[in-house]
Amino acid sequence: MTDDGYNAADNSAKSYALAIETMRDKLNSFRREEIGNCTLYLGDCRELLPLLPAVDFIFTDPPYGHNNNNGDLIHNWEKALGRPLDCGSNPRPIANDGAQETAELIEWFFAQLPRLLRPGSCCCCCCGGGGGPDPQFARWSLEIDKHLDFKQMVVWDKGPMGMGWHYRRSYETVLVAQRKGAACKWHTESDSIENIIRPGYLGIRKIIPQAVDHPTPKPPELARHFIRLHTREGETVLDPFMGGGSTGVAAVKEGRKFVGVELDPRWFELSAKRIREAYAQPDMFIEPQQPKAEQLSLLGAAE
Ligand SMILES: C[S@@+](CC[C@H](N)C(=O)[O-])C[C@H]1O[C@@H](n2cnc3c(N)ncnc32)[C@H](O)[C@@H]1O
Repeated sequence: MTDDGYNAADNSAKSYALAIETMRDKLNSFRREEIGNCTLYLGDCRELLPLLPAVDFIFTDPPYGHNNNNGDLIHNWEKALGRPLDCGSNPRPIANDGAQETAELIEWFFAQLPRLLRPGSCCCCCCGGGGGPDPQFARWSLEIDKHLDFKQMVVWDKGPMGMGWHYRRSYETVLVAQRKGAACKWHTESDSIENIIRPGYLGIRKIIPQAVDHPTPKPPELARHFIRLHTREGETVLDPFMGGGSTGVAAVKEGRKFVGVELDPRWFELSAKRIREAYAQPDMFIEPQQPKAEQLSLLGAAE
């Protein structure tokens, strides 16, 4: 304390408490849905992420910059077939899906990752495949590596695409990057996890969206695969570009906590609905965990 009664330690504690309270108030000003162990926020992740605490894992699927604003797959299909466009097939634009908007958003998002990830954790970020002079997976890998350690590009082989022109886009990628300074957790004893997800592996199948669905849905099984590899039950998974909530459904099915952010109210509502349904429906694919041998012997059931 100085002669005039100024106490630096006390002052900084008060400033800190005030900053925390201001952040909490700001967070509370966003629309929020609490469903079981899931918290969903409606808003721009550029405003929300700075207010959120660090998590154990991020699985996300940002806009790819493919300009879905020009009409999504179903819309274009109906248009090509000359069908009326008022039967639930109105275009469903994806926010921030222009090339420049996406580039800026991704740059900003990747820079947040070191603060958002706890030590020993990682981010799995869906990304396009394909080529051209500036392939997206190459650019995003270099960009994420500025902030985390880029670990692996996993190829998701979506299987045959049917008829088309030249090199059809039959795969997407998932970029895995870990917080600098520590290898990310790896919770499997299997030595056969590949960096290619082959068609149908673990029930991971591409989804052709219906008119009521999000226009670019990921199968929840894709997120479940990575959630199982990198987290344990009870840990927290974040998806800042939640869309129709596939990552949230995956987290629920794997018994993880979930925090999701979505800008578009329509997809926010869809996420909430799907997450409620996920809690309501027992999962046919979850196999009850078998006790390990040492646990069995403790129970007197081994030998
Ligand atoms: C590719 S989609 C995610 C689809 C999702 N994986 C699913 O399976 O439904 C990307 C989502 O990010 C949302 N988005 C775009 N910019 C955003 C922002 N700044 N903050 C939060 N969400 C945003 C879009 O509205 C869109 O729903």
